[in-house]
Amino acid sequence: MPTKPRILATHQFPPAVMDRLLKDYDVITNETNEHLSADVILERSKNVDGIMCSPGNAFDQALIDALPASVKIIATFSVGYDHLDLAAAAKRGIVLGNTPDVLTAATADIALLCLLGAARKAHTSATILREGKWSRWTANQFLGVHVSGKRLGILGMGRIGQAVARRAKGFDMEIHYHNRRPVSEPGLEEAIFHESLDDLLPNCDFLSINCGLSDETQHLINDATIEKLPDGAVLVNTARGAIVDDIALIKALKSGKIAAAGLDVFENEPTLNPEYLDLDNLFVLPHIGSATFETRDAMGFKCLDNLDAFFAGNPIPSPITL
Ligand code: DGY
Repeated sequence: MPTKPRILATHQFPPAVMDRLLKDYDVITNETNEHLSADVILERSKNVDGIMCSPGNAFDQALIDALPASVKIIATFSVGYDHLDLAAAAKRGIVLGNTPDVLTAATADIALLCLLGAARKAHTSATILREGKWSRWTANQFLGVHVSGKRLGILGMGRIGQAVARRAKGFDMEIHYHNRRPVSEPGLEEAIFHESLDDLLPNCDFLSINCGLSDETQHLINDATIEKLPDGAVLVNTARGAIVDDIALIKALKSGKIAAAGLDVFENEPTLNPEYLDLDNLFVLPHIGSATFETRDAMGFKCLDNLDAFFAGNPIPSPITL
């Protein structure tokens, strides 16, 4: 029997994914599931043919340059790939694969949860209830921002942005978006394209961030861009935390310029800027966009499909390219 390719798994993945990984590969597992530093990844990469990682592992230029020559593929358990240095991998001839499509629906669902949770004060009201501090129903209590009929601006109209738009239409929202180019997808014919972010922002009673993180989008939502939103807008981020400048958002949430924010992601995860925690107009989740049983299995199987194709000598189904 030919020897199985050797894979470093930087995490524990869902059980069905681990079963298939262990059946088909010679795997160096991370039994304790602790976060692996770059040094530990390097140490464990000796003689491995490929690596299965996740967004928590930063494969920057220094780490990629230092990987042993045996490493030929890195399959990330994510659609986002801002944690991978594409140029460094290309230089080393390392193939990169990700997991698009399968997490679109789950992530769009969480965007709507963040939108509704922020607008309708889900955090404050549920906390008061859980703490036994709710005394009675009153007419002026827990009043939030009305959603139905409002304008939703979507920054980044890729697969997830489009899925958010389709869901928001169910809430009778008017869809505006900014994207590199207009989309012409069924069901989104009425969505209004804005060529620039500056054009989009004044039309956003709600703004949902659904673009990737790159040098161009880092801190794209900052003091200057927030200023262009209508007063009392609601901000939703389910993409990457670093697209938003935390300091600017905290300031806007304190002043009321932004009425509420729903964040599933934040810069420097898992450490939330402590000032956020004092704000009762923040609805925050710990990066659970893709966290359903079905989605996480599907993400793992996509990683494995990438590895299987690569080691069979075929093009991988979900390559990440420069
Ligand atoms: C991704 O796949 O990039 C997500 O952020 C993980 O849910």
